[in-house]
Amino acid sequence: MAQIQKPFTFLRTGHVVRNRTVLAAMTNKQSNDDGTISSEEISWLCRRAEGGFGIVTTAATHVSKDGQGWDGEFGIFNDSHIAGLKLLTDNLRSKGAISIAQIFHGGMRSPQRLTGVQPISASKNKCSESLYGFSRSASEQDIVRLINDFSDAALRCANSGFDGIELHGAHGYLISQFLGSKTNRRNDSWGGDIIYRAKFLIEILRSIKLKVPDNFIIGVRISPEIEKIGINLHDSIKLAEILRDEEIDFLHLSCGDSFSRSICEPEDPRFITEWFTTSISQLPPIISTGAVWNSKDVNSLISQGADFIGVARVGIAHPDWPKKILNEKYEPKEPPFTETQLRDVKLSQPFIDYMKVWDNFVSADT
Ligand SMILES: Cc1cc2nc3c(=O)[nH]c(=O)nc-3n(C[C@H](O)[C@H](O)[C@H](O)COP(=O)(O)O)c2cc1C
Repeated sequence: MAQIQKPFTFLRTGHVVRNRTVLAAMTNKQSNDDGTISSEEISWLCRRAEGGFGIVTTAATHVSKDGQGWDGEFGIFNDSHIAGLKLLTDNLRSKGAISIAQIFHGGMRSPQRLTGVQPISASKNKCSESLYGFSRSASEQDIVRLINDFSDAALRCANSGFDGIELHGAHGYLISQFLGSKTNRRNDSWGGDIIYRAKFLIEILRSIKLKVPDNFIIGVRISPEIEKIGINLHDSIKLAEILRDEEIDFLHLSCGDSFSRSICEPEDPRFITEWFTTSISQLPPIISTGAVWNSKDVNSLISQGADFIGVARVGIAHPDWPKKILNEKYEPKEPPFTETQLRDVKLSQPFIDYMKVWDNFVSADT
């Protein structure tokens, strides 16, 4: 049996995933202003579960009202969000997928125009989303509140029927603002070298574990390198070791392009995922995502040591990608796609409009 087809059991929680495909988190701007999930967002995700994805991850969902990143983003900061999410998780389960909610706080990337408050971050940073031009440095009291917001949100996810959560520690949002040496210049116990910059993430994980049921999957997504905010590969490898010791259920590497070399080690032949799989013993299960489109890409990323293959854009246009990728020579059509093609695969107009900002993804109907 090809590796991508093989079921996987999460040892700690007992969940069985039917294959090694993951629909990575994708913001799609289809939900409601009060933070409840819309039927359009539910139907887009359920169509991908029907297409055979082993794990279906939701869009990033904010744990605090002041952590919202975009218009049309569903939230998980209030119990009033639970009823709609139950419809989603029941549906995903009936279609055989493991459901994971990606929870996050935007930090200095949460626009003040949306949240009504000055964006918060690890330090006072230059910030285009702030009406004052700067983020506010989180006080000790803010940090305690934010950690609680994350763990309360995780509990709401469990109560909504999700199989687990993915903590969004990637892409420059609040958790990565604490991880980055340029955005976190604190000289208290929440800043310093990577062990201290990781403390915010670790305390969130510990707080979540105290609140959710034992059989709830807890994973973390990171960006191994973000030069702009001071996240580098070697710190990220140390972070992965810390996360392994915290016994997370999976580590999701957001590689951008899984077939590119490290920025800080350009001479080394290893791709980013390989850096982790060859440097660290007893790694948690690895999901790796970035620039996978066809069967050749899948095989190549599996040979780098990934346990799961995450995809985003190809899963938009090709909801049955998991079923078809079992064919050794699947080469799905590449972008652009017409609006009609995207409507046919359950994208609503707001999502299609959002995809127009992604280079060359949407073309005009002829
Ligand atoms: C429309 C869109 C929305 C995205 N939203 C999120 C998100 O909410 N959270 C996240 O971690 N990544 C998000 N990403 C990044 C993807 O999860 C993925 O890492 C990236 O697109 C690379 O994978 P791909 O080459 O398969 O598209 C988004 C990507 C796309 C295309």
